[in-house]
Amino acid sequence: MARVAAAVDKQFDLLLSVPDDPRAELFEAMRHSAIGGGKRLRPLLVMATARLFNVNENCAIRAATAVEALHVYSLIHDDLPCMDDDAMRRGKPTTHVAFGESQAVLAGDALHALAFELLADEQTHSDPFVRSEMVACLARAAGPSGMAGGQMMDLVAETTTFDLQTVTRLQQLKTGALIAACVEIGAILGHVAIEGRKGLRGYAHDLGLAFQIADDILDVEGDEELAGKALHKDQQAGKQTFLSLMGLERAREQAQMLVNQAKSHLSIYGEEADVLRAIAEFTVHRDR
Ligand code: IPE
Ligand code: IPE
Ligand code: MG
Ligand code: MG
Ligand code: MG
Repeated sequence: MARVAAAVDKQFDLLLSVPDDPRAELFEAMRHSAIGGGKRLRPLLVMATARLFNVNENCAIRAATAVEALHVYSLIHDDLPCMDDDAMRRGKPTTHVAFGESQAVLAGDALHALAFELLADEQTHSDPFVRSEMVACLARAAGPSGMAGGQMMDLVAETTTFDLQTVTRLQQLKTGALIAACVEIGAILGHVAIEGRKGLRGYAHDLGLAFQIADDILDVEGDEELAGKALHKDQQAGKQTFLSLMGLERAREQAQMLVNQAKSHLSIYGEEADVLRAIAEFTVHRDR
């Protein structure tokens, strides 16, 4: 994790050198949000999956940075006053607190675009079919049938009562879709045909759900210092989560069950998939 985090920091540092012109503040805001912090779990998933198929690390790290850029954009916008209205992220002031709201909106926009620019770049992969498949995959995961759609459902969940099935779908879209895209992109980089991705898809699906349940558990019983963000917000905002529906203990059991199930999807792989198995355990035992 530390190695991937350092590599992602380096990529962002190279990509976001501050120009000596009136755009400087935009680049500063992008650097503030993208460099130094975060678990870098999504890049790690791209790297660990790509490694199963012996993908060149320089290619994989660029695709991994693209997914992280998309994720960082989602965090910047998620924290805005019109969304969750948060002042801390990754142990630092949120982008709108540090730079202003307009600047934060633009930094998010620019990181969103940067993600696709990276995936479409020849330096990321020489095969245009691989590049276009990665672009399509990330676009689906980020759009109305992915993260943005899930964020919409999350807003509606503040004022409407959802059943367990609808909350599950909310979580899948809001968080699961992007996590699944990381694994998918790792496989695309490795030229794995659709038929060969079944186990990985099953793994990613269960991992994504477990990840958001863990985030919701952390919101209730986590340590703000360690998490680097404000907690105890979901209940206050009237958000429906697995916890509000099934309580802490059952949510914890559900998350562990999903992790076990995620790992069982990897049974066709040997020890080369141990990092993916470890990521699954980390997802629910994390403190940040
Ligand atoms: C937080 O994601 C937002 C959710 C989708 C729950 P992470 O918990 O991966 O946040 P960072 O990247 O480590 O800061
Ligand atoms: C955010 O979910 C998911 C995104 C798509 C960014 P949360 O609102 O629960 O994430 P945190 O708790 O602020 O990190
Ligand atoms: Mg939110
Ligand atoms: Mg939030
Ligand atoms: Mg949360």
